[in-house]
Amino acid sequence: MSKSQIKFYRKNVMAEVIGDEHGITDRQFAELGEKVEPLIPVVAREIAGHDRHPDITRTVYGSLPTNTEIAAGVMKLVGELKDKCDNLVVLGIGGSALGNIAVQTALNPYMYNLSKDQRGRSPRLFVFDNVDPDQFGSFLKDIDDQLDRTIFNFISKSGRTAETAAQFLIIRELLAKRGPQYLADHVVVTTGFEIDDDGKPTSTLYRIAKAAEPNLTLLEVPQHVGGRFTVLSAVGLFSAAMCGIDIEEMLAGAADMESRVTCTDFKKNPAAINAAINYHYYDRGKRNSVIMPYSYALKDMADWYRQLWAESLGKKVNLSGREVWVGPTPVKALGVTDQHSQVQLYREGPNDKLFTFLQVEKFSREDIVMGPAPDCAPELDYLAGKSMAALLNNEKKATEYALLNDERPCLTVLFDEVNAYTVGQFIFFFEATTSFVGALFDIDPYNQPAVELGKDATFALMGKKGAYTSDCTYEQFAERIRAKTDIDESYLV
Ligand code: PA5
Repeated sequence: MSKSQIKFYRKNVMAEVIGDEHGITDRQFAELGEKVEPLIPVVAREIAGHDRHPDITRTVYGSLPTNTEIAAGVMKLVGELKDKCDNLVVLGIGGSALGNIAVQTALNPYMYNLSKDQRGRSPRLFVFDNVDPDQFGSFLKDIDDQLDRTIFNFISKSGRTAETAAQFLIIRELLAKRGPQYLADHVVVTTGFEIDDDGKPTSTLYRIAKAAEPNLTLLEVPQHVGGRFTVLSAVGLFSAAMCGIDIEEMLAGAADMESRVTCTDFKKNPAAINAAINYHYYDRGKRNSVIMPYSYALKDMADWYRQLWAESLGKKVNLSGREVWVGPTPVKALGVTDQHSQVQLYREGPNDKLFTFLQVEKFSREDIVMGPAPDCAPELDYLAGKSMAALLNNEKKATEYALLNDERPCLTVLFDEVNAYTVGQFIFFFEATTSFVGALFDIDPYNQPAVELGKDATFALMGKKGAYTSDCTYEQFAERIRAKTDIDESYLV
């Protein structure tokens, strides 16, 4: 443990700070420990592929930090492509995009895409996780004369998500006009390699990549790792490495955290404690979980966390098949920006939230110092000569103090600094926390059945043919959807 560690701070949820009504007493904390400690070996085994329950979706994300084969494969491809690439375009959605965005924002400078000086030999990175024609159209216009030095990385575990498939069909047509070799030279497909019972690859993109002549380059999304847990696989590592991020450090940080979150002593296990506290508050009506980084670099980690938390923990049934309709609502906020947007509500609105701040001690880039106040504005003297980092971190304290004054529970994840190692730690810390909360709710955190209906409905509305279920075709399904969602003029004002 010689490298910089992220640390988890829980004093400001305790009753000694915010009182007995909203705080956790020592006795309650000890009881939480008794409840959670037996789950630690269960969760440790679960994330290594040993199911906690026969009906749970199998996961093996715990094997990713030490999987040197994936990193080696990614680095080999990066070695082949990097010098040929000025623009890397990632196309995916949900777990196939949010980790890429979060890692890039965390570990590359704010002006990375705009400043050649700041990005050095690495390509610009664009991540498209939407199908908005205005956004995509503007991009296509701009990139048209730069295609020779652009690589498109399509990411889809299932290989048939409508949004990513749509993007693929657009780009494929654009590139294929210049010949099959051109297409193969500019596309990397990251997808599942699973084979179904009939020996057919389940991923449509995989089949397309293999059918193309020459074949398109493939990277694998590991089997038994759900999209939102894949950032430490080729899904997140390829774009990170192309953009100059030290993926080995990131994986080493994650592996380091894996040893901490599988520690069987509850009091030393940050993920078990974080999960226990989140569970405790959910049970007592604080059903909103606000994550608030005081670091622009960590801003998009809040988006990544939001998906991880929402898709994993929002579940209708538990593992006994009982309806539970469970799930804390993840809310993202950014310090200091949202102090001037959300804190009024956070303090004086309902006390139904648990706050988790992300705080950074040392900012990796140069700190910036404020100049002297003009003579006419002596009221600004208190800022003169002070650093921006000091202002940012003091504002975190100030906001936390204000919240504590109103008995709002606050946790903090402390970063010595934001670097590849601590980002790897953070990712694994929250993945493991999610698994612990899933175990406490007795649910399956690795499936997302509620997302599927919307995906199928999109297929139907976009004209897919054939059987949807044994007694309903996609065409009939589309009719049913339209009956409910077409605008009824009589309700329009
Ligand atoms: O976490 C998940 O499984 C989802 O958010 C998926 O990542 C998302 O739906 C995209 O799926 P796919 O990678 O199959 O295109």
